[in-house]
Amino acid sequence: ARVDKAGHKHFMAKEIAEQPVVLANALSAYLSGDSLILPEPGLDFTKVERLVMVACGTAYYACLTAKYWFERLARLPVEVDIASEFRYREPPVTKGTVALFVSQSGETADTLAALRYCAGKADTIVSVVNVETSSIARESDLALPIHAGVEIGVASTKAFTCQLNVLFLLALEAARVRGTLDAHEIAQLIGSLRAMPGLFNAALAVDPALDQAARKIAPARDVLFLGRGYMYPLALEGALKLKEISYIHAEAYASGELKHGPIALIDKDVPVVVFAPKDSLFDKTVSNMQEVMARGGKVVLVTDAAGAASAGADAWQTVVLPTVDERLAPLLYALPAQLIAYHAAVAKGTDVDQPRNLAKSVTVE
Ligand code: G6P
Repeated sequence: ARVDKAGHKHFMAKEIAEQPVVLANALSAYLSGDSLILPEPGLDFTKVERLVMVACGTAYYACLTAKYWFERLARLPVEVDIASEFRYREPPVTKGTVALFVSQSGETADTLAALRYCAGKADTIVSVVNVETSSIARESDLALPIHAGVEIGVASTKAFTCQLNVLFLLALEAARVRGTLDAHEIAQLIGSLRAMPGLFNAALAVDPALDQAARKIAPARDVLFLGRGYMYPLALEGALKLKEISYIHAEAYASGELKHGPIALIDKDVPVVVFAPKDSLFDKTVSNMQEVMARGGKVVLVTDAAGAASAGADAWQTVVLPTVDERLAPLLYALPAQLIAYHAAVAKGTDVDQPRNLAKSVTVE
């Protein structure tokens, strides 16, 4: 079927906007009540000792986010690597290892090569893909579709949130089997996940504020993204999105690492985007933010109502999202990350859906 822009100016805008519906569909494909439905042959986490996750680009940041989930919720050791490094390093892959590959297209050459390297070494090869007929899906023991629908914009958006969704559900399954979360805690998290499409709608409604922030950022030559904990991989994804489509140089740092180098870059010309819901690490992030502002840095703070109230009014701009369980914040905060990049690119007049030098799927090394 031909996919059109459904009234949007760009495919990227359409794909960002459809995330509430797409996520709701993806959830119904994987959940029956509080139980996870996995395609055949399923995955038994009782014998898993280690998870190795490999991907490229945005899919890699989905893996980095999932590391926090698998480690914290399921106490499962996780390694994450970019495919082009992993495949040539000849890393030991031993029994007891599940090797998991995330790829929207399922055709990324480096990711496929990394999968082939693990075949016969790992116990199980799992993939998380959007294209179910892809090479990566076919060569996996278990292929988990993300159900994002066709994604046309080169910069990945809905595929990212749908990858996060599947990885979160898998982490919950690991936690259930390994006994690190009880049934009540799991039911609570699934309830929060089921509420996410509604929160997505609320996040899309703050679009005018994100547009305003993006227009302020657009003239900058360099932009920093900061986050801690679950918000660190999201900061990396926000910086990647901005680079990809607006051609503004952007870098992400874990907020706590700022003082070890990047703070030297801060002046009035370097906007700093901080993702900081009022979670357990909020106060630490705010003190990092104050270090930035004390040096003349201009901060765009993306937070929730409680965070906005306690951070004070010194930020260049504060964008307020709905309150969410901190463990699910990466899904919700993905939307402002995407929208800031989108609006900055539109303000600069770049080719949003077909950015220069980039391809949707990279089937060469
Ligand atoms: C390309 C795309 C990125 C994407 C990456 C991985 O570089 O431009 O948007 O994240 O490939 O693609 P995959 O299909 O493996 O997820």
